[in-house]
Amino acid sequence: MYIYDEYDQKIVDERVKQFRDQTNRYLAGDLTEDEYRPLRLQNGVYIQRYAPMLRIAVPYGLLSSKQLRKLASIARNYDKGYAHVSTRQNFQFNWPELEDIPDILAELATVQMHAIQTSGNCIRNTTTDQFAGVAKDEVIDPRAWCEIIRQWSTFHPEFHHLPRKFKIAVNGAQQDRAVIEVHDIGLEAIRNSQGELGFKVYVGGGLGRTPIIGSLINEFLPWPHLLTYLDAIVRVYNRYGRRDNKYKARIKILVKALTPEIFAEKVAAEWANAKDGPMTLTEAEVKRISSHFIAPAYKQLTDIDFNEIDQQHPGFARWRQQNTRPHKQTGYIAVTLSLKATATPPGDISDKQLDAAADLADQYSFGEARTTHQQNIVLADVEQNKLFELWQQMRELGFATPNIGMLTNIISCPGGDFCSLANAKSIPVAEAIQRRFDNLDYLFDIGELDLNISGCMNACSHHHIGHIGILGVDKKGQEFYQISLGGNTGYNTALGSVLGPSFAQEEIPDVIEKIIQFYLKQRHADERFIDTYQRLGMEPFKEHVYAKNN
Ligand code: HEM
Ligand code: SF4
Repeated sequence: MYIYDEYDQKIVDERVKQFRDQTNRYLAGDLTEDEYRPLRLQNGVYIQRYAPMLRIAVPYGLLSSKQLRKLASIARNYDKGYAHVSTRQNFQFNWPELEDIPDILAELATVQMHAIQTSGNCIRNTTTDQFAGVAKDEVIDPRAWCEIIRQWSTFHPEFHHLPRKFKIAVNGAQQDRAVIEVHDIGLEAIRNSQGELGFKVYVGGGLGRTPIIGSLINEFLPWPHLLTYLDAIVRVYNRYGRRDNKYKARIKILVKALTPEIFAEKVAAEWANAKDGPMTLTEAEVKRISSHFIAPAYKQLTDIDFNEIDQQHPGFARWRQQNTRPHKQTGYIAVTLSLKATATPPGDISDKQLDAAADLADQYSFGEARTTHQQNIVLADVEQNKLFELWQQMRELGFATPNIGMLTNIISCPGGDFCSLANAKSIPVAEAIQRRFDNLDYLFDIGELDLNISGCMNACSHHHIGHIGILGVDKKGQEFYQISLGGNTGYNTALGSVLGPSFAQEEIPDVIEKIIQFYLKQRHADERFIDTYQRLGMEPFKEHVYAKNN
C-alpha cells in the first residue's frame, strides 16, 4: 500500500494544525458561519440534523490493520461506538462533537489518514474495484493509477474553484466493479491490438437530481497522457461549467448541454496545450508509484477442493459460494465481510468489529483490508486452506451473513434518521426488507439482485442503478417511497424507471415481495431478476404490483 513520504506527512500534519486554529476561532465567534463553512468542508465536516458528520478519505478503499484499529478507537472515544462505510469507499462518523474534530484529525494523521478533499467543491477520493490487484479478470492493477491521480489532484490550484464536487473512478478489470459510468470521469484500462496500455475515458456520469450515464469521449488514451488529458477535462469544466445554479453545475450538465462530441472537441483543443508537456507520465514515475502496490509474499500453494467440507457444512458452502471470489494466485481467495446483517444499518461497523477486522486482516490477509462501493469490507488475500477457520471466526463477529450480491446486501444511506437533507427514512426500510427476506433458502432462490435505498434525490445510495431502487419522497409532509426497476451496473449501466405511484413505508416489504413473486413466476431457468425485467419490460411488473386484490 502507499506509504506517506515526509512531504505527505507534513502536509497532513500542517492541515490539522490549521484546522484546529480555524475551528477554535469559529467556536470563539471570530469566524462567521459563512467563513467557516468552506474551511470545514475542505476538511470533511458536514453539519447534519443532530451532529457534524466527518468523512474520512480511504484512497481507493485500501486500509492497513493499524488504520482500522485507529478508526475503532475513534468510534469508541469520540463517536457512538460505530463507523459507517460509504458508497465511495470512505469512512464516515456520524456523531462527533465539532470541538473534538481537530483531535480526531490529529489521531488520523498518526496513521497516515485525513479528511482533506472529502467534501465541498473539489476532486474527491478516486475510487476503484475492491478486488484490485487480485481479480482474475484484471487487465492492470488500477491502484497505482488512482494514486497517481490522487497526487496530481490534491492541492492542484486549478481545482480549488470548481463549480461542484468532482469524482473520478478507475477500473482495471473486464467487469466494472467501480461503477465508472456514473462518475464525473470514469477510466477503463484496456490494451490495444499491440498490447499497449491505455484508458477508455467516460465523462459526465452522475446520479443525484439529474441522473446521467457517462459518455465515452476517448476510445484509447495512451497511458503517458493520462494526467494531461484529465487536466484538460477539468479545465474545460472549470471554464464552461455553470456557476449560477448549483443544481446545474456538475460536469454532467455541461456535457449534456454541449453534447459529448462538442465537449470532446473542447477537451482535445485544451489538451493540445499540455500534451507531451512536463505532466506527461514516464515509465520511471509509474514504476515509482507502482512499487507501493506489489503483490505480497504469496506462498506457493495449490487450489483446494472444498467439496467434502461443503458437504459437511452446508452453511459454509453457502457462504463460500456467495461471499468469496476466485483469486489470481493459486491457493488464495478473496473474502467479503458482509456489513449487511439484518437489524444493523447497512454499512455500519462497530468499534469491536473494526478491531476484529484488523485482527483478521493481520492473521489472514497480510495486514490489509479494503472497503467496497457496496459498503462492505474485503480481505483480499486469504489462503484457501484457512478459509474454514476464518469463516468460523467471522460468524462469531457478525461478518458472515451470506448475502453478497443478493437482495439483503442493501446499499442504504442514513436517510431521515440523521441526514438533514432526507425526505424519508432509509434504515428502517432496509431493515423491514431484510426481515422479510431473512429465509436463506428463499434468498438464494431469488439469486443475484441489487437493491438500493436513498432517503432523497441526492442519491447517496445510488438508487437509480439498483435492480430495484427505492427513493424517499415527501408527499404533503408525509414520508413516501418511489420504486424503480431496471437499474444496472457494470459496463451495461442503466438507470431504473419508476414503477408508478409511491407507497407508504409499511407497504414496502409487501411491494418488494410482489415484485419478487412476479419475477420468480416469470423467469426462465437461471435468469437473473435484471434479465427477466429486461426481457419483459416494466408494464407486466406494474400491472402485477398495482392490481386490485393482489
Ligand atoms: C448524512 C450525511 C450526508 C449528507 C449531508 C450527504 C449529502 C449529499 C449531497 C448533498 C449529495 C448530492 C450531491 C449532488 O448534488 O451531486 C450527495 C451525493 C452522494 N452521497 Fe451523500 N450525504 C450524506 C451521507 C452519505 C452517505 C452515508 C453515503 C454513502 C452511503 C453518501 C454517498 C453519496 C454518493 C455516492 C453521492 C453521489 C451521487 C452522485 O453520483 O452524484 N452520502 N450526498
Ligand atoms: S440520499 Fe439524501 S437522505 Fe440519503 S444521505 Fe444522501 S442526502 Fe441524506
